[in-house]
Amino acid sequence: MTENGSKNIIDVKDLQVSFFTDSGVVRALNGVNFAIPQGKAIGVVGESGCGKTVTSYAVLQLLAKTAKITQGTIQFQKRDGTVVDLTQYKPGSNEMRRIRGGEISMIFQEPMSSLSPVHTVYDQIAENLFLHKGINEKQARERTVELLQLVGIPKAAERMDEYTFQFSGGMRQRVMIAMALAPEPRVLIADEPTTALDVTIQAQVLQLIKRMQEEFNLSLMLITHDLGVVAHMVDQVYVMYRGRVVEDAPVMEVFYEPRHPYTRGLLNSIPKLRGPRGKVASIPGTVPDSYNLPSGCLFHPRCSQYIGEVCRQNVPQTRAVSANHRVSCFLYDETPDVQKEV
Ligand SMILES: Nc1ncnc2c1ncn2[C@@H]1O[C@H](COP(=O)(O)OP(=O)(O)OP(=O)(O)O)[C@@H](O)[C@H]1O
Ligand SMILES: [Mg+2]
Repeated sequence: MTENGSKNIIDVKDLQVSFFTDSGVVRALNGVNFAIPQGKAIGVVGESGCGKTVTSYAVLQLLAKTAKITQGTIQFQKRDGTVVDLTQYKPGSNEMRRIRGGEISMIFQEPMSSLSPVHTVYDQIAENLFLHKGINEKQARERTVELLQLVGIPKAAERMDEYTFQFSGGMRQRVMIAMALAPEPRVLIADEPTTALDVTIQAQVLQLIKRMQEEFNLSLMLITHDLGVVAHMVDQVYVMYRGRVVEDAPVMEVFYEPRHPYTRGLLNSIPKLRGPRGKVASIPGTVPDSYNLPSGCLFHPRCSQYIGEVCRQNVPQTRAVSANHRVSCFLYDETPDVQKEV
């Protein structure tokens, strides 16, 4: 355990995770690097299967039993300022339980599988309050009403005794957010929090998450396959491909100066608001299976700017192309290596 003055609440370096299954080894994460500065928001984007959920589960030590963190560190700065490496804790350890929920909360990708159908909204929020706050029944009911009002649930005092299936999709997601906020966490991980919702409700829920982040000075990790979602939500975007971060940059630079051919492909696949309506471009090829990773740059089989043998045989280094903008691609190999800064 060390104490440092780092401004990053979470700092992940070279994270590698494999699943050891009956059909073989799935190499889900192949060297993931990212950092969440205190009170800031990052977005993690990439196609289905690129490792977004596995990354967040690794941080919280919620990975399946078949998974193993084979390399890397997850440094976490606790409330008291000490920095610990979460990979060193056992998933069921007391320390990890305290951090999970108490310091780092998560809004899961599938609300129905993480909300209990047999417990009322109050029961589920109160469980988080009792676990992390040590309060009595009366205080828990008052706090639950406050939390439900905070996330915009009308008639909170009555509705808290209902079951989650009695709520609409958007309201259920608000309940999830209230549950996540109950233990007053410092980090919020939201994994595709709006995928299942229709567009208007999606915007409202995203606004709510943003408002909560600012109000409570949370450090936010917003996971989505949709680059459009991160635009007004985060400071820094990490683009993942096949269990690696291929580019990361301040949010506006990702939109106006994307460097990696994969990021450019993702941007072209966002439907345009103006201009001729037509087929949305998609990146040619499919994500290859995780049992057999390609050699060299993992994106080379699908890359529109493939240079040649170098891409097939070598793993590109991560290079800074400007302050806080890094890219892993041989197109930028001449760029002088700038001091890494996050
Ligand atoms: N329990 C598991 N057993 C084996 N492989 C797994 C398991 N969970 C995830 N994987 C594999 O790990 C890789 C990353 O999966 P992950 O769920 O993190 O993707 P994702 O980016 O969150 O995708 P999506 O956008 O669809 O949610 C995939 O190749 C997936 O098949
Ligand atoms: Mg996922």
